[in-house]
Amino acid sequence: LQRTFSIIKPDATERNLTGAVNAVIEGAGLRIVAQKRIHMTRQQAETFYAVHKERPFFGELVDFMTSGPVVVQVLEGDNAIARYREVMGATNPANAAEGTIRKLFAKSVGENSVHGSDAPETAAIEIAQFFSGNEIVG
Ligand code: GTP
Ligand code: MG
Repeated sequence: LQRTFSIIKPDATERNLTGAVNAVIEGAGLRIVAQKRIHMTRQQAETFYAVHKERPFFGELVDFMTSGPVVVQVLEGDNAIARYREVMGATNPANAAEGTIRKLFAKSVGENSVHGSDAPETAAIEIAQFFSGNEIVG
């Protein structure tokens, strides 16, 4: 059993899609073992996306992620990291497969509805940024 970190981004919370995204997550066999709705500070968003700080879209990304509420989550399941990335679909919704969260809901490559960790090391770091151990109930 593996854990991954997920964010339901501001474009999705704004359209009241939290439940719809969660239905896809749970339908894919992933269990939501921690969840909270927060408004990220710029500091939190800059720390979270520090690997992208030299990319041209970094400022836009931080602006977007702090533009409204997000739902941060820990998902658990067999092969949860790869499984969730499959369920999310490609970063750019134009390239996302049918039935994926981004194909169903994303507005653009920037406003793409969800985040999911890309490796075990980043999953551990991302989970620890937003959750303490006693907030995760498997
Ligand atoms: P995450 O799960 O969010 O990490 O997405 P990803 O791994 O599919 O994409 P990547 O790590 O390459 O980029 C991180 C995030 O930056 C994406 O999810 C987008 O929200 C944003 N992003 C990526 N490319 C662009 C872009 O060209 N323009 C803008 N505005 N945002 C982008
Ligand atoms: Mg990424």
